Amino acid sequence: MSSVAIVGATGLVGSLFIELLKSRKFPVSDLHLFASDKSVGQKVKFGKKNYSVKKLSPGCFAGVEFAFFSSGDSISAEWAPEAMKAGATVIDNSAAFRMHPNNKLIVPEINGALLGSKRKAEIIANPNCSTIQLVMALKPLYDHFGISDVRVSTYQSVSGAGKAAFEELVSETKAVLAKKKFKTKEFVKPIAFNSIPQVGSIGDDGFCSEENKIIKETKKILDSDSFKISAFTVRVPSMNGHAEAVWVTLKKSVARSDVLGCLERMPGVKVHTGLNEFPTVRFNSDDFVHVGRIHADREHENTWMMWVVSDNLLKGAALNGIQIAEIFL
Ligand SMILES: NC(=O)c1ccc[n+]([C@@H]2O[C@H](COP(=O)([O-])OP(=O)(O)OC[C@H]3O[C@@H](n4cnc5c(N)ncnc54)[C@H](OP(=O)(O)O)[C@@H]3O)[C@@H](O)[C@H]2O)c1
Repeated sequence: MSSVAIVGATGLVGSLFIELLKSRKFPVSDLHLFASDKSVGQKVKFGKKNYSVKKLSPGCFAGVEFAFFSSGDSISAEWAPEAMKAGATVIDNSAAFRMHPNNKLIVPEINGALLGSKRKAEIIANPNCSTIQLVMALKPLYDHFGISDVRVSTYQSVSGAGKAAFEELVSETKAVLAKKKFKTKEFVKPIAFNSIPQVGSIGDDGFCSEENKIIKETKKILDSDSFKISAFTVRVPSMNGHAEAVWVTLKKSVARSDVLGCLERMPGVKVHTGLNEFPTVRFNSDDFVHVGRIHADREHENTWMMWVVSDNLLKGAALNGIQIAEIFL
C-alpha cells in the first residue's frame, strides 16, 4: 500500500487521478490532496474515508511515496523538487521538467522500460496530451519502417486548457444562443462556434508553444533526431478529446495492410480499418488512442495519412500518469 499525494486535486486532471486510483485499484494507504487557497477544506470521499483538500506547505510531502502533480508549470517547478526531496516518486503533468535532460519523459507503452522496476525519489515527466496520442501512433511505424517526416494538425478540445476553459465554452455557447453579451477570458478569441489557430502563446518564429512541445517531446520520446516534424495546433469548440490529422512519410514503400497490421499490434492503440471508418472525440473518449482514415497520400511518396483521436484527460494526462506509477507496483 502506498501513501499518495495529488497536487491540483480539484482540477480536471486531478479529479480524474482520484477516479483512476479507485477504478484501477491502485493500492492507496493514505491520500494527500492539494489545491489553491479557494479549495482548502473541500472534502473528497475516497474508499471509506473523507479527505480534506489542503494547501501546499513546507513538509507537506513527508511519507508520500507517489506524488501526482497537475497544477501548472510554476507550481510543479517550485514543489515537485520538494516532494522528491521528501522521498516521493513525482509524476508531473506540467511542462516544467519535460525537456530537462535529467528527467525522463515517459509513455509506458513506448519507453516505460527506461524507469526500471524499483521506485525511487525522482521527477518523471508526463508528456503533453497532443504529443502522447501522436507518439502512440508513430512508434510502431517508426520501429517497423522508419520515419523521415511527420506533419500534424491538431483539433484540440477546451478541456485541454483546464476547468475554467471548459466552463467558458458552456457559458459562451449559451450566451451566443441567447444573443447575450459575454467576455472571453480563457482564449484569445471567443471559442463558441469558432476555431482558434493558437494553442499556448505564439513565439517570434510564428510557432505556438503547444506546437513546440509536440515537436520537441516527440523527438525525445522516440529518442531520435533523425526525422523532420512540424505541427500546427488548433483549439476547437469540442468539450473533451483531441483529434489530429497526421501525415507520416516512411522510409520504405509498404502496403496498407502492413501499416494496419503494425498499428494493430501496438498496445493501447485501436485501429479503425475501413477506408471510410474513423473515430470521433465525442464517441471515442476512452483509454485508447484511436486511429482511422488510414490511406496513402496520392502525391507524396511513401506518405500515409491518418486521423488520431484520444481523450486528452485520460491517455493524454491522468491515465498515462497512473500507468507510469503502476510500473513500480
Ligand atoms: N487538461 C488537459 O487535458 C491536460 C493534459 C495534459 C497535461 N495537463 C496539465 O495538467 C495540469 C492541470 O491541468 P488541468 O486541466 O487539470 O487544470 P485545471 O482544471 O485548471 O486545474 C488546476 C488545478 O491546480 C490547482 N491549483 C491552482 N493554484 C494552485 C496552488 N497555488 N497550489 C495548489 N494547487 C493549485 C487548482 O486548484 P483550485 O481548484 O483550488 O483552483 C486545480 O486543482 C496543467 O499543468 C496542464 O498543463 C492538462
